[in-house]
Amino acid sequence: MTRRPTTSRGAAPAALAAALLALVALPSTVAAQGTDGRGTDGADYPFVPTPPEVVAEMLEMADVSGRDTVYDLGSGDGRIVVTAASRYGAAGLGVELDSSLVAEARQRAAGEGVGDRVRMVRGDLFEVDLAPATVVTLYLLPRTMAKLEAMLFRQLRPGARIVAHDFDMEEWAADSVSQTPGGLGGHATLYLWRVPARVGGTWELSVSGAPAAGERLRLTIDQKFAELRATVTRPGGLRVREARVAGDSVRLEVVADSAADGEATTLAGTVSGARMEGRTAGGAWSGRRVANSDSSLVEWQP
Ligand SMILES: C[S@@+](CC[C@H](N)C(=O)[O-])C[C@H]1O[C@@H](n2cnc3c(N)ncnc32)[C@H](O)[C@@H]1O
Repeated sequence: MTRRPTTSRGAAPAALAAALLALVALPSTVAAQGTDGRGTDGADYPFVPTPPEVVAEMLEMADVSGRDTVYDLGSGDGRIVVTAASRYGAAGLGVELDSSLVAEARQRAAGEGVGDRVRMVRGDLFEVDLAPATVVTLYLLPRTMAKLEAMLFRQLRPGARIVAHDFDMEEWAADSVSQTPGGLGGHATLYLWRVPARVGGTWELSVSGAPAAGERLRLTIDQKFAELRATVTRPGGLRVREARVAGDSVRLEVVADSAADGEATTLAGTVSGARMEGRTAGGAWSGRRVANSDSSLVEWQP
């Protein structure tokens, strides 16, 4: 595989997008009847399976192991979840609208001897509780990806990985994008996201060392997926030069206007719900969330 370790957003392969979109554009009666009994359960959606070599790359990209619970949303014949279980020992759930595909997926799981570790359910992927998942796999059309991104961000735990085949999300930029041989257009584009902790809101910070020893600082974070904009309020002039979140790790670079050389203090630590804490070079710091974010994409309980 040629891996592109980049944060740029690659384009979905035109051939595959066209093929999938053309299927969706079929008159609804044709799409609904199918010729092999598929798409008879209200799925106005094509079943286009991910080729085995691309499945393998998706699971490698997500670094799946026996500690993971892999959810495939729109699971088709169950191949991704079954491979995660049989090759890596993961637990899993496949959710699929089409009952004939669900039956096929259950047979596949039984045939591979992983029927006790995976569940294949017939249902709407928008109704699924995603909280137990540590990995989510997706091969869904752009309109579904666009509807799904806020749900993924809100429900998945920090550090969970999402891997998508060929179709990007609308606003949430992937952490990495790679190309791999296989698929309808001869190659597939894979996207990986690591779910960041939800840190949007107003926080009260105490820092035991410079640049604000003994003070209570008010920190406001606006969060859009993995992007943060942070400001800190303090009469003496203090600003946040950089704010980052990755999984449950947070890192703030704070600079006092009085700092002769503009030297920043780094507050690095971990977030857990409405608490964050860590160490600085000269001591410790902690934060308590006291209000939700104005630009709230998130729902959280203080
Ligand atoms: C392109 S196929 C991918 C199948 C499988 N994930 C794979 O990669 O091999 C998309 C599947 O999503 C299913 N699907 C579409 N919308 C769905 C929904 N709202 N809930 C559950 N399944 C859905 C379709 O029936 C179809 O089988």
